[in-house]
Amino acid sequence: MAQPERAAIVTGASSGIGLAIARMLGQEGFAVTMAARRAEKLEGAVAGLAAEGFDVHGVAANVAEESEIHKVVGAHRERYERLDVLVNNAGVGIGASLADIQTKRLDMQLDINLRSIVLFYRECLPLLQAAGAEHSNALVVNTSSISGKRAEAWLSVYSASKHGVVGWTEAMNKELGPQGIKSTALCPAFVDTPMTDFVKEQVRAEDMIRPEDIAEAVRFMLRVSPACVVPEMMFVRPGDAL
Ligand SMILES: NC(=O)c1ccc[n+]([C@@H]2O[C@H](COP(=O)([O-])OP(=O)(O)OC[C@H]3O[C@@H](n4cnc5c(N)ncnc54)[C@H](OP(=O)(O)O)[C@@H]3O)[C@@H](O)[C@H]2O)c1
Repeated sequence: MAQPERAAIVTGASSGIGLAIARMLGQEGFAVTMAARRAEKLEGAVAGLAAEGFDVHGVAANVAEESEIHKVVGAHRERYERLDVLVNNAGVGIGASLADIQTKRLDMQLDINLRSIVLFYRECLPLLQAAGAEHSNALVVNTSSISGKRAEAWLSVYSASKHGVVGWTEAMNKELGPQGIKSTALCPAFVDTPMTDFVKEQVRAEDMIRPEDIAEAVRFMLRVSPACVVPEMMFVRPGDAL
């Protein structure tokens, strides 16, 4: 297969924010490896974007497992041989008050929301460095949350993991920025995705941020010059208390 001009990996690409970003990247001419946990759901998302004419392929993987991260990056490297944009978006949130925090769920949130991002960076580093050396504008987008800026009771573990994503993004900008690899943390309030189904009786879906709004912000990130870094982007709804 001929090497595409630009290529991306998007995790959590089977629905919501990740799917919207994968579609936007397809529109921008990127070949995209889409990764998510459940194979059947991912296949549907990949088939949908392929039917829209985009060069996409799917790799079903649980990003909580290091070997599965190797699988995603290896499959991407074999197929596209380059990586210009990495979107670390897979995430889960499980609410619990302190006394009720289950160790298994604590580990799961830290592994998926934070540890996987560290491992993806490390595994993708040579490809990102090659893109940075070529055009000084390699980009890594890390989906944090508004909870990564303002912590919430009951969502304490989720909030801590998402604060970790913001801190990690800052560190990567300092470490990799000089190599032409920029990092951005996305910090949205409620977005209308399956993740927020639990709250839709209290907050109407139409009053939430749309996944496409987030994708537009990432499109903007593709346009800015190599001299400009946007380290984090916060998305709130009118009236949201900060
Ligand atoms: N929706 C919001 O209000 C909101 C606000 C702030 C931040 N976020 C963040 O946005 C990101 C995307 O969430 P979303 O709202 O778009 O929800 P979503 O539609 O439920 O998407 C979550 C995606 O992550 C994947 N995923 C979950 N666990 C995974 C695992 N262990 N390995 C691989 N993939 C996994 C899911 O695949 P499966 O369905 O197969 O598990 C799905 O593709 C998350 O990091 C979330 O924390 C969401």
